[in-house]
Amino acid sequence: MYRYAIIQQELDTPLITNIAQAINGEYSAIACYAHLATVAPTEEARKQIKEIRQDEVRHFQTFSAIYTRLTGRQPTPTITEPCPQSYKEGLDFAFKDEQETVDHYLDIADRARNPVIRTAFQRAAADEQNHAVWFLYLITKKSCSCQT
Ligand SMILES: [Fe+2]
Ligand SMILES: [Fe+2]
Repeated sequence: MYRYAIIQQELDTPLITNIAQAINGEYSAIACYAHLATVAPTEEARKQIKEIRQDEVRHFQTFSAIYTRLTGRQPTPTITEPCPQSYKEGLDFAFKDEQETVDHYLDIADRARNPVIRTAFQRAAADEQNHAVWFLYLITKKSCSCQT
């Protein structure tokens, strides 16, 4: 029993580290998108960024619940990525971050043996891909003169 518990812990440590990093990423995005919404030039852009932020809040809650179930502890999230102050730089940063997060979450989903964890990260990856497309749309709007 003792030996089995140790083996389980060894196998799951990288996964727990990855989930903790994902929680930090969501926590950072929640703060960054709150800022981005305040500097958004139009009501349409602000509304869209707030909707994306709500998805990040949901991801944060889901991953935190998984982390607590695996470790028996609450996560202690920290902001790991600085958020650009300007709207344009913020959009560029968010687009790249969302794209990278898709890959990261699909890797976690592939390695997770637990179907609950696997599904949670697959669904979050699909959301992040959708966010990346929205940020690309906002970048396009920002860079063309047809900004409304
Ligand atoms: Fe997210
Ligand atoms: Fe996202």
